[in-house]
Amino acid sequence: MPETILVTRPAPGVGLITLNRPKALNALNQQVLAEVTEAAAELDRDREIGAIVLTGSAKAFAAGADIKEMQPQSFSDVYAADWFAGWDALTRVRTPLIAAVAGYALGGGCELAMMCDVLLAADTAKFGQPEITLGVIPGMGGSQRLTRAVGKAKAMDLCLTGRMMDVEEAERAGLVSRIVPAGSLLDEALATAEKIAGMSTPAAMMAKEAVNRAFETGLTEGILFERRVFHGTFATADQKEGMAAFTEKRKPTFTNC
Ligand code: CAA
Repeated sequence: MPETILVTRPAPGVGLITLNRPKALNALNQQVLAEVTEAAAELDRDREIGAIVLTGSAKAFAAGADIKEMQPQSFSDVYAADWFAGWDALTRVRTPLIAAVAGYALGGGCELAMMCDVLLAADTAKFGQPEITLGVIPGMGGSQRLTRAVGKAKAMDLCLTGRMMDVEEAERAGLVSRIVPAGSLLDEALATAEKIAGMSTPAAMMAKEAVNRAFETGLTEGILFERRVFHGTFATADQKEGMAAFTEKRKPTFTNC
């Protein structure tokens, strides 16, 4: 049984992972890494699950990697254990991941939110990469994903000063998909997850894969990849159903085949 997270299935087709180390503001230690990646992989393998929500508490999505755990480590310790490489497993999850962020999303917390596909933020959310204030730099992808999300100017500002950005600034910069009142964050995230889970699962997975390709390749390669995957959707029963339903003016019933 996991000890640092809660895993539930609150609605049909939806998995929910809640970070649950409230006393440490959900600081991400090695146990959290193992438990989150394992839970996400298990939900990803479940053909009934069409979307996964990852959330924290009202005060903190996650206040970063666990500083107390990192403090005694030497270069050779973190190098030999390849610290934080384990989080890459989350980016191999093919089911759409929705981050529901309230309060602090700092350092590894911001990086974890950026590993998700849709980022819903409460009006209380605060984002930042304060690693520089600890004498280190981001280590879970922040210098790369933040720069791709918000551009060099703002990424440099955040990574070099360690300052926090409020939710309006984060949305303006393109980090956040949508701002939601704090009181309805989870409801909104679950509704979004249910909506995605109600789509053709193969089509949703392919859309996620195609959008993510934009981060990995040049434009010509990315567009070719998208076109080939688009062609592939015509091999699914859901494409037949989706387009038939449109022409027959009814709602589609997807079978995820
Ligand atoms: N690691 C370990 N413990 C943490 C933590 C972290 N990242 N963030 C908060 N905590 C702990 C605090 O030590 C404190 O524990 P105690 O009660 O035992 O003292 C508890 O959580 C509550 O924190 P505060 O008392 O500090 O709460 P606050 O409301 O006064 O401040 C905060 C909140 C501004 C988020 C502040 O806690 C803070 O600055 N946290 C650190 C943020 C940070 O630097 N994150 C980056 C970490 S490095 C990283 O993430 C590397 C990477 O790229 C992967």
